[in-house]
Amino acid sequence: MKAVILTGLRTNAEYHLGNYLGAILPMATLQRRHVGAYQVNMFAPDLHSFTTPINHSELYRRTMDNLRVFIAAGIPLGDKHFYLYRQSYIPAHAELTVILNNFAYYGELKRMTQFKEKADELKHKSVSAGLFDYPVLMAADILLYGAKWVPVGDDQQQHLEFARDLGDRFNQKFGPVLTLPEPIDKQLKFVKRTEGVRIRSLRSPTNKMSKSVTDPAGTILLSDKPADGRAKVMAATTDSLNAIHWDWELQPGVTNLLQISSLLAATPATKVLAEWQGRSDYRALKKYVGQQVSEFLTEFQIKLKSVDKAAVLAKLEASEAAMSQTANQTLFKVQQAIGLRP
Ligand code: TYM
Repeated sequence: MKAVILTGLRTNAEYHLGNYLGAILPMATLQRRHVGAYQVNMFAPDLHSFTTPINHSELYRRTMDNLRVFIAAGIPLGDKHFYLYRQSYIPAHAELTVILNNFAYYGELKRMTQFKEKADELKHKSVSAGLFDYPVLMAADILLYGAKWVPVGDDQQQHLEFARDLGDRFNQKFGPVLTLPEPIDKQLKFVKRTEGVRIRSLRSPTNKMSKSVTDPAGTILLSDKPADGRAKVMAATTDSLNAIHWDWELQPGVTNLLQISSLLAATPATKVLAEWQGRSDYRALKKYVGQQVSEFLTEFQIKLKSVDKAAVLAKLEASEAAMSQTANQTLFKVQQAIGLRP
């Protein structure tokens, strides 16, 4: 059996440049680099998409639209080692979550950074059990397929570590039933990085770029008109230090632009930095990155238009049938281990 590379992106909103550079592009790059050597699982965690309130009448359409983004990013539908699926079409995800809930601790879930941030956003009112429990569902997503490699942005690393801890706890108690994802340091080496990707908001660069943010000028959506994407970069918040340096503490705005530039060009950050280091011309940097963003959006949107909806649906149905079998096999081993099956 081939080792599994797996990732998922929630479908509660449109994808933005942070999602693209943090998870979609790394996945597309890995697929290309290791074609045929790994099984590649990319899925829409649609059950994860309403842990905070959404407009449910849009969820199905949004899920289908967002799945097309993975294909536009360059993962070929025809690759027979690539599986594209919707979480809610494979019931084992929900069932394993219910089981694993009993081995996950209240204290550790309460300490998850994302939970705390989202609960703060909700002002601690109507914080659902689904939001609290969400890392367990994510652990089930990973453990069902024995995924070793899980490319995610920096904000999901804590959840990935939790999935590993939870799987390990299960195995300690019941024997080697679950295959664990690799630890974070190895994950980073696998994607050839020294730190996780965290694209910042263009307007408040101490925060991550995010779909729930109330300031749309800080977020570049993949559906933004190229000219609007460029304008958002031109209006990005920087600083008054007047010299470009890679420094997340003192110059998060400028460093964010350097990071975006490096990832879009697939050029090492050191090379981008060599070009700009010490220069005082922030406007030139914004113009350069604005042009890169505009070209990226233009090309991406052309590719997205050409993705065939019927072919995506056929791929989904075939993948969901195949992955249901894999997921059910893992679920059965877990059920046996805990005494639900003989
Ligand atoms: P989600 O939907 O919030 O984000 C999807 C992916 O995008 C990355 N990301 C970013 N990367 C860099 N900079 C940013 N500003 C930025 N914003 C988002 C996230 O790190 C993530 O990789 N629980 C997950 C989805 C999920 C999942 C899984 C992922 C469910 N099951 C199993 C991997 C494996 C989530 O909510 O990501």
